[in-house]
Amino acid sequence: MIDRLQAIGAQAVEEIRAAGDTAALEALRVRYLGRKGELTACLKGMGRLDPAERPRVGKVANEVKAAIEAALAERREALRAAELERRLAGEAVDVTLPGRRGHGGGLHPLTLVVRELLDIFGQMGFSVAEGPEVELEYYNFEALNIPQDHPARDMQDTFFVAPGVVLRTHTSPVQIRTMEAQKPPVKIVAPGKVYRCDSDVTHSPMFHQIEGLLVDRDVTFADLKGVLTEFVHRYYGPDTGVRFRPSFFPFTEPSAEVDIQCVLCRGSGCRVCSGTGWLEILGSGMVDPAVYGFVDYDPEEVQGFAFGMGVERIAMLKYGIDDIRLFFENDLRFLRHFG
Ligand code: FA5
Ligand code: MG
Repeated sequence: MIDRLQAIGAQAVEEIRAAGDTAALEALRVRYLGRKGELTACLKGMGRLDPAERPRVGKVANEVKAAIEAALAERREALRAAELERRLAGEAVDVTLPGRRGHGGGLHPLTLVVRELLDIFGQMGFSVAEGPEVELEYYNFEALNIPQDHPARDMQDTFFVAPGVVLRTHTSPVQIRTMEAQKPPVKIVAPGKVYRCDSDVTHSPMFHQIEGLLVDRDVTFADLKGVLTEFVHRYYGPDTGVRFRPSFFPFTEPSAEVDIQCVLCRGSGCRVCSGTGWLEILGSGMVDPAVYGFVDYDPEEVQGFAFGMGVERIAMLKYGIDDIRLFFENDLRFLRHFG
């Protein structure tokens, strides 16, 4: 019996050392040490032995079992290491390959233009104010000296939301809200969306304006001309011609529209400027004393000027864009020009 045990042990250790993978190793473990395994079967015969022989045989049986277990553990470790080695080789990462870049988002061209314009006015000491897009008729019209049934209301085709409530047609109501909330001096620019029932290649039902308002003592039309000329020269370049053309707004007196020399033909006349050599970029004027009555400012004490520019118009002239709808179609080929 001792010979049998030792023969089984020797054979088991030899086969275990030759096992090619963990599955084969597990099969060998079951075959030798399992409940129906060879060693177990052999040991079941111990009961028939002479009791005096049993301790000797038992000792050998334990030695054989320990040897098989040790061989299994050793082989298992070797196979595991080899398998890990193989997996690592197969999964190797080539750190020299160029990475895949994510697509970074970008700011919309109008956002970029608004920021640039606000920067210019910020350098001139204007701070930023805001107001609601859904606005009371009172702020959009009445307090700007545009009474109910006044023909000036027809200058802007209005979207009505509810009785007395409109989508603001310009950023000028922010003038009133700002003066209601603070005493002079006031020096603000107010960017935002405005709405008009209006749509063609240069008009959009939603567009952006930037309002400007400066109220203080001893403010004259020369200050208005100085600030707006400086703005045009900073944004379009110092050689760009500027002219102030008499105009009318109910909330300014006198009023002027500002034209710049056509950026496309440089003033010689082309299709974009209808042969005139000039393009309108904004409306402006000295704040009408009637407006001060609505906000409790004393027109004997303060004077001021205001202006309102169309952001899309300003951007179209800067970049030579001939259709306002390009800003709102979200065609990536267009948008990427400005990234
Ligand atoms: C106004 O809106 C006045 N509130 C401006 C103002 C402010 C005057 C302060 C005096 C003092 P106007 O309607 O002209 O004025 O519009 C101003 C600018 O908005 C225009 O010069 C034009 O550039 C732009 N604009 C007007 N309608 C549209 C439209 N439908 N789509 C795109 N831009 C427009
Ligand atoms: Mg106009």
